[in-house]
Amino acid sequence: MLILGLESSCDETSAAVVRMEDGKREILSNIVASQIEIHRLYGGVVPEIASRAHIEAISGITYEALDKAGVTLSDIGAIAVTSHPGLIGALIVGVNFAKSLAFANNIPLVAVNHVKAHVAAAYLEYEELEPPFTAMVVSGGHTSIYAISSYTDFETIGSTRDDAAGEAFDKVARVLGMPYPGGAEFDKVSYGGDPKAVTLPSPALTGDNLDFSFSGIKTAALNHINSKKQKGEELEVADLAASYTHAIVKAVVKKASGALDKTGARTLVLAGGVAANSHIRRELGEMCEKRGARLCVPKISLCGDNAAMVAAAGYFEYLAGNIATTDLNASANDNL
Ligand code: KG4
Ligand code: ZN
Repeated sequence: MLILGLESSCDETSAAVVRMEDGKREILSNIVASQIEIHRLYGGVVPEIASRAHIEAISGITYEALDKAGVTLSDIGAIAVTSHPGLIGALIVGVNFAKSLAFANNIPLVAVNHVKAHVAAAYLEYEELEPPFTAMVVSGGHTSIYAISSYTDFETIGSTRDDAAGEAFDKVARVLGMPYPGGAEFDKVSYGGDPKAVTLPSPALTGDNLDFSFSGIKTAALNHINSKKQKGEELEVADLAASYTHAIVKAVVKKASGALDKTGARTLVLAGGVAANSHIRRELGEMCEKRGARLCVPKISLCGDNAAMVAAAGYFEYLAGNIATTDLNASANDNL
């Protein structure tokens, strides 16, 4: 069946048409209108501006996705929309647009959790991938580990107690003068530095848990920058970026390995915007190979926010009979 996916939870307006059938997945279109250039001026996402930009883009993007896929609304079997979590004003735009489109055209509507959508990106890339498996979602809003028992049932087994990994990259990158969002730039710059140059606290919480805290490492990095400035010493940006990245990657690998121990899963799915990080991809790959587990990580274009992943997750909600009614509301909360 063909699913129309819609995504507007943060700073990307996206619409996609995806064909989902038993063991076969095909992305017919996946249009992403990024607002990055608009928010870059402010060094981060401004929620009110994001909502307005979604309103301007969503209709055009949707018809562009249908056109590119060579289909019309009458070919669409279900409309899947991100309903939570995210910026509430931004989510409301997608949810209300999807509700109107579904109601006016008599198409079933499916509400999708954004985090589940990130994980579902892996189904688009690995057609044979099936639950159960363990998933790690690292993004601007999440650093969480899930035990996934079915296409729709997720249990949170680890999470961050404060910031997410993407936020931790973006905040330090901003102070270093890198353009928003700094994650991708950080990734590149860290190749030129020494990962042992700056001592930083680990974001992996100690003890028998799968949790993270990024506030300590973030503060330590900012203190390092300020102290260099106060002493009039030159800051080795690449060394700091490499050390910071190394500490985050090590923590992610440690907790991912702990999660595989705990769940006994043989497959780890890595998803979310930060899954684009080349160091995390490489080192998680090495860890999985050593222990004979399989790492499934979507291609870069499916790691960041996009509607193809929403359509994929929506397909499984549809199969599970989770059809939304017209009283569907957007919500900022994290309920799975
Ligand atoms: O999943 P996403 O597009 O949006 C949320 O749901 O949050 O993730 C965005 C995050 C940003 O913090 C961005 O800096 C980060 O993903 N990111 C990266 C890389 N590419 C994007 N972080 C580290 N390395 C990258 N290569
Ligand atoms: Zn996301």
